[in-house]
Amino acid sequence: MKLIFLGPPGAGKGTLAAKAVEILKLPHISTGAIFRAAIAAKSPLGLKVKAIIDAGKLVDDETTIALVKERLSQADAQKGYILDGFPRTIPQAEALAAFSAVDQVVNFDIPDSSVLERLGGRRVCRACGTNYHQVFNKPKQDGVCDSCGGEVYTRDDDKAEAVQKRLEVYRDQTAPLIGFYRGKGLLIDVDARPAVEQVVENFRKALGV
Ligand code: AP5
Repeated sequence: MKLIFLGPPGAGKGTLAAKAVEILKLPHISTGAIFRAAIAAKSPLGLKVKAIIDAGKLVDDETTIALVKERLSQADAQKGYILDGFPRTIPQAEALAAFSAVDQVVNFDIPDSSVLERLGGRRVCRACGTNYHQVFNKPKQDGVCDSCGGEVYTRDDDKAEAVQKRLEVYRDQTAPLIGFYRGKGLLIDVDARPAVEQVVENFRKALGV
């Protein structure tokens, strides 16, 4: 099964993807996570995208499309995938259609107020990427990852100014994909407002898994 997770920043795409990986036994491919790993490694890609991501803007289509095309050509993605954070523009969606036929697009239905609450409290493990929230999902020990003991920190693009920019970019460039995929009969809406366990149930029901 080839799935896209589509939704605003902080909708809970990465959190649900971590659960969906166990349910569907598919790789989770997050363009944001690939970019963050490149930044941490100070690779040429990381050096190129760091300032763009910290400001809450989008990396250019050409770079992002090439990265996803290469990743989807790898062996583990042949049986299917959960693509999280891509496509984010109409040109990206058109490019994807030329090299991979997506089965369904999961649209995370959530108001801005919930997004702001989630991003405002998000914490992430610097080593393994596990997501936390300072109210909804705290690590057992403050600042320390439950899974690997790594440092739990606040992403640079979760600062207030960058969050406003990311929401603006989502509305202008990514939200049009809802109509794009609905028109192709691929979109399923999932109510992403409740607690994580209920969102997982909503996802299972919507997908029939
Ligand atoms: P990316 O990493 O994809 O960021 P995003 O889409 O903004 O999504 P987030 O990771 O912020 O949120 P999420 O929906 O995964 O929510 P999460 O599960 O963490 O991209 C980062 C940047 O990379 C972009 O801004 C751009 O610059 C660049 N980029 C990436 N892809 C690109 C592309 N295709 N083209 C161009 N540029 C690209 O949850 C958020 C918080 O809420 C967490 O604290 C979590 O614990 C909590 N939470 C989650 N679910 C629930 C729940 N049900 N109840 C309560 N709390 C919850």
